[in-house]
Amino acid sequence: MSKTKILLFAGSTRIGSVNHKLALSIAKSLEFVGSQHKEGTEITTISLNDYELPLYCQELECDGLPEKLIDFARLVNEHDGLVITSPEYNASLSPLLKNALDWLSRVENIDGQAVTPIKGKPVAIAACSPGSNGGIRGLSHLRDVLVNLGALILTEQLAVGNSLTAFDDDLTLTNERAKELCGELCTSLIRHAEYYKA
Ligand SMILES: Cc1cc2nc3c(=O)[nH]c(=O)nc-3n(C[C@H](O)[C@H](O)[C@H](O)COP(=O)(O)O)c2cc1C
Repeated sequence: MSKTKILLFAGSTRIGSVNHKLALSIAKSLEFVGSQHKEGTEITTISLNDYELPLYCQELECDGLPEKLIDFARLVNEHDGLVITSPEYNASLSPLLKNALDWLSRVENIDGQAVTPIKGKPVAIAACSPGSNGGIRGLSHLRDVLVNLGALILTEQLAVGNSLTAFDDDLTLTNERAKELCGELCTSLIRHAEYYKA
C-alpha cells in the first residue's frame, strides 16, 4: 500500500499570512495523525506564489493553458487529499483562491491523460482571521465552489479566530478547542483520503 499523500495550501500569499500559518499548523497535526497509520502519510505544504496565475480571462486560453497551471494541476491530481485554508474577504473566499480554483477547473487533461484534479478528492477547509468568528462565513462560500467542482468536502471544518494570539512559536494552536477540532479534521481527512485513493 502506498503512502497517503496530502497537499496543503493557503488562499493568501501575504508575507506573514495567518492562513499560511494555519496550513503549516494543520500539516504538523497531519504528520502526527499520519504517524499512527501503518501505510504512512506524505504531507506537503505549498504556496500559491510558486504557481503564479494571471487573473482568469477566457481569452488567455486561446494559446493553451499556462504551464504553471499544468504544474499545479498535476500536483493536486497526484495527491489523495487536500487542505485549503482561506482568508475571509467580505464574508467570502479570497480572490487569489477563487482564481486558482477557476483555473484548475479548466484543466481536463495532462500529458494526454484525462484528469479531473479536484473531482472526487477529499478536501478539508479551514480559515483564520483576526476577528472572533475565524473566517467561518468565507468557508461556506468556499464549500459551495468546491462542491461545484465535485470535491468530497469533509463536514468537519476549522475556523480559528483571534489570529494574533492563535499560534505558539512552534505553530501549535493555542486554543484548546481549536486544537481538538484540528485533530478531528486531520483524522477525518486521512481516513477519507485512504479510503478514496486510487
Ligand atoms: C478586502 C478585505 C476584506 C476582509 N474581510 C474580512 C471579513 O469579512 N472577515 C474577517 O474576519 N476578516 C476580514 N478581513 C481581514 C482578514 O481576515 C485579515 O487581513 C487576514 O489576516 C487575511 O488573511 P492572511 O493573513 O492569511 O492574508 C479582510 C481583509 C481584507 C484585505
